[in-house]
Amino acid sequence: MSYEFKIERTTAPKVKPADESKLGFGKIFTDHMFIMNYDEGQGWHDGRVVPYGPLSLDPSSMVFHYAQELFEGLKAYRVADGSIQLFRPQKNIERMNNTCDRLCVPRLDPDMVLEAIKTVVDVDKDWVPHNDGTSLYIRPFIFGDEVSFSVLPAKHYRFMIILSPTGSYYAGNDKGLQTTRIYVEDEYIRAAPGLTGYTKCGGNYAASIKAGELAEKKGYSQVLWLDGVEKKYVEEVGAMNIFFKIDGKVYTAACEGTVLPGVTRRSIIELLRDWGYEVIEGKYQLSYMPKDKKPVEEYLKLQGRFSHMFKPGNEWMIEQVQKEVDRNWEELLKLCEL
Ligand SMILES: Cc1ncc(COP(=O)(O)O)c(C=O)c1O
Repeated sequence: MSYEFKIERTTAPKVKPADESKLGFGKIFTDHMFIMNYDEGQGWHDGRVVPYGPLSLDPSSMVFHYAQELFEGLKAYRVADGSIQLFRPQKNIERMNNTCDRLCVPRLDPDMVLEAIKTVVDVDKDWVPHNDGTSLYIRPFIFGDEVSFSVLPAKHYRFMIILSPTGSYYAGNDKGLQTTRIYVEDEYIRAAPGLTGYTKCGGNYAASIKAGELAEKKGYSQVLWLDGVEKKYVEEVGAMNIFFKIDGKVYTAACEGTVLPGVTRRSIIELLRDWGYEVIEGKYQLSYMPKDKKPVEEYLKLQGRFSHMFKPGNEWMIEQVQKEVDRNWEELLKLCEL
């Protein structure tokens, strides 16, 4: 099935950022956005590209009260010949539909979503930055806009896509992931079995802000999330997956409901395996834990080998995660950037 969307172009285009080194993340938005409605009985309909601008919403819209909202994040890159490429958009669309299932939001036709992304990116193609390390961040999102206080799936939704030219997520904060100071969070959790950790629902991020804020006050820029049951096993860092290379093997947390199945994570795993590395997706813990200095038997095989990365103490820090590892790891760290 082919899709074509109505396009209403802006009559007042904005001035594009002159200095691409100062783009930051999610600060500047392009001239247009995609919007589509869902109404019970009618399904998803009326997809269109319109000038970027504020929405008018009834204060009783369900999203404001019960947070039936989800989003995705992917990027378009300007490549050497000047053309624009999307990075594995089908993977994000698949993950978006998985999130829809978890939040009882009606799924969208993946071909339709891909066409919507391509259409709005094409309309705003002049906004895709040119410098190395820059890209056009694409933010699809869906929210329930039914006017109701019932704690039930909404009967009306909006699906939208907005675009933001972006530099590195960390630009301006520090010198990048290499120098990120990470706080091992052992009080607050990001996810627990049966909840929504594997989805990109806004609620996950709202619940994570507190730990991030406390870590920042202590001088850290990221939180290392431990599992929500035993608070022992490494899951993610901030809003990123994390890998450790130990004795030539690469370890990362398995995606079993509490870890977001990152598209970058999956891509790294595929690349590494192609390059001949052994990648282990499993459960693993740090060599020392704040409250439990004795690692669990089964994970002793990892004990000690992380020690060069952490400073034991109440506040835990991973300094230069890539220390003592080879060039490939540095390449991977770049790939890990949002
Ligand atoms: C919690 C969380 N984990 C991991 C990731 C990385 O996912 P991806 O590689 O698909 O951007 C993200 C970013 O979206 C995230 O929000």
